[in-house]
Parts: sequence; structure tokens; C-alpha cells
Amino acid sequence: MPANRDIPLVSRDPLGGAYVRLTFRHPEVAREARAGQFVMIKAGTSAEPPLRRPFSILSVDPAAQTFSLFLKAVGPGSRALFEMAPGEIAQCLGPLGRPFAAPASGREALLVAGGYGIAPFRIFSEELVRQGARAHIFYGGRTGADLPMRDAFADLGVPVTLTTDDGSVGTAGRVTVAVEAYARTLGGRATLYACGPDAMLHAVAGLADALELTAQLSLDPWMGCGVGTCLGCVVSIQKAEEARPKNRCACTEGPVFDATEIVWKGEGSSVARRRNVEVRQ
Ligand SMILES: Cc1cc2nc3c(=O)[nH]c(=O)nc-3n(C[C@H](O)[C@H](O)[C@H](O)COP(=O)(O)OP(=O)(O)OC[C@H]3O[C@@H](n4cnc5c(N)ncnc54)[C@H](O)[C@@H]3O)c2cc1C
Ligand code: FES
Repeated sequence: MPANRDIPLVSRDPLGGAYVRLTFRHPEVAREARAGQFVMIKAGTSAEPPLRRPFSILSVDPAAQTFSLFLKAVGPGSRALFEMAPGEIAQCLGPLGRPFAAPASGREALLVAGGYGIAPFRIFSEELVRQGARAHIFYGGRTGADLPMRDAFADLGVPVTLTTDDGSVGTAGRVTVAVEAYARTLGGRATLYACGPDAMLHAVAGLADALELTAQLSLDPWMGCGVGTCLGCVVSIQKAEEARPKNRCACTEGPVFDATEIVWKGEGSSVARRRNVEVRQ
């Protein structure tokens, strides 16, 4: 059950530039959070800024009753969190949303991250390692400075393939190119998981369709409340049996969705629906 609390910042680890790892004490999030879930959080207890912002849960420590976020400061809400000092209070509701589901037995989990989309994959990697599942992380950014979490998986033994648009770190080019090359070596024994910018998510969905792989995508719409009341986060989803797409709240029915059920901008239907119609014709 999500719990709403005023919570202290326990520690702050700057990761260079606009990036920081923040650790808060919140017993319920620490105990119950699953990979892919998020919190709605804002710095301080005043009315400014008025709305909380969504952030993925990076990791949890149930014994210490803490959880961590990986945050990029981009605007007022994230900057206020970025500037918090240990001991200061944030308002936080969580854990929220639908988590990632584990891959089917015998399939390797390919975790595809763009920028701050790496955040849910630390806790997910821990879950996969505990379950004995194979995992491989593909982590892309514009430059090396956008990959501050690149060493954060070494202790788990999960391999990380890095890509940058400018070639400053890892392989030059799009992260999805590296994923495709690797996925092809697995002959269909893979499940894709992705979190990052829309264009990357769309490319991962296309790759999953082409290689006939299952993909779970964490969508990144604007969110005002996190609990299904403001309707700020609606995304167009169409299950195979539905004649028309439906607007669904990413905060309560997502943020993780099956790639085949997402209706992308400019497309009138989902892959799941198109496949269903083809089978019946
Ligand atoms: C489920 C979910 C999980 C998230 N997890 C993380 C995380 O782990 N780490 C992290 O750093 N960020 C994460 N984000 C994004 C984060 O919520 C936004 O960066 C934040 O809300 C921006 O608020 P702001 O007040 O700082 O900036 P705003 O003034 O609201 O926005 C500043 C700029 O960022 C853009 N922006 C705002 N929200 C988003 C968004 N959701 N996606 C893309 N661009 C956006 C705006 O268009 C604007 O250009 C997540 C978003 C969602 C929906
Ligand atoms: S964020 Fe308000 S309904 Fe989803």
C-alpha cells in the first residue's frame, strides 16, 4: 500500500553535473517497492512548488528503512530536490504504479536505458540476480557525462554495454543498435525492458516487433498526482480484444506497459490489435 509521509533526506551523493543520488527514510517504500515503481515527491513542506514530481525507485534498503532516487535536475521541482541537504524534509507518496514482470524462464532480460531511464534498473537487476535470471544492461546517452550510473552495476556482476551519440564513451551510436545486435545472438530467448525518452521506447517497441520478442516499456508522461485523479498522465493503450484505443492513466495502470498494447502518436492502433485482426481475417 502506498504511504504518504514527510521524510528526511538521509544522504546526498553528487554524481556530476545535474545528477545526484538521494537517499530518504521511508519504511513502506523501503519494504514494499518493486522494480519499475515510483514515488511522487517534492522538497520541503510548503506549497511551493505546488505539485510533487514522479521519480523511479533506484534502490531500497529495508533494514535501514531507506530508498534512493537517481535524479537529474531539469526544472523547478527536480532542482529543489537536487538542492536538498541531509536532514531536510520532503513530502513523498509511494510506492506507486505497476512494476516490471520477471522474464519467462530461460529468457535473458535485456534492460535498455536512455539517460535517467537507468533509474529503475538497479533495483530490477537486484531482483533478477536474486531470482537467478540472466540480465544485460544497455545504457545510452548523448555523451559520457550522461552516463553517471555506468559503474553502479559492477557489484551485481550484470554486464553493461555503454553507447553515446558522440562516441566519447562506449560504442558510438544509438543504444538500440547495440541491443539489436546482441538480441539477434540470443535467437529469440530474450525479453526487452526499456525506460528512457519516447523515441528510444518507440524504437525498442519496433525492435521487439521485428524480432518477435516481448517488451515491457516504462512510459514517461507528465504526472500531476500519481493516483489517477488529475488525468494528466493518460496514454493511449489498446489491448488485442479492444476495437478502439482507450486513454489509461500511466500512474495507476503503468508506468510499465506491454509494448504491443501502446498506440504511438500518428498510429491509429496497437500492434496487439493489428495482430488480432490479421489472425481473424
Ligand atoms: C514514472 C516516471 C519516473 C521518472 N523517474 C525519474 C528518475 O528516476 N529520475 C529523473 O531524473 N527523472 C525521472 N522522471 C522525470 C521527472 O519526473 C521530471 O524530470 C520532473 O517531473 C521534472 O519536473 P521539474 O519541475 O523539475 O521540471 P519541469 O519544469 O516540469 O520540466 C522541465 C523540463 O523537463 C521536461 N519534462 C518534464 N517532465 C518530463 C518527463 N516526464 N519526461 C521528459 N521530459 C520532461 C519539460 O518538458 C521541460 O522541458 C520520471 C518521470 C516519470 C513519469
Ligand atoms: S498523474 Fe494524475 S491521473 Fe495520473
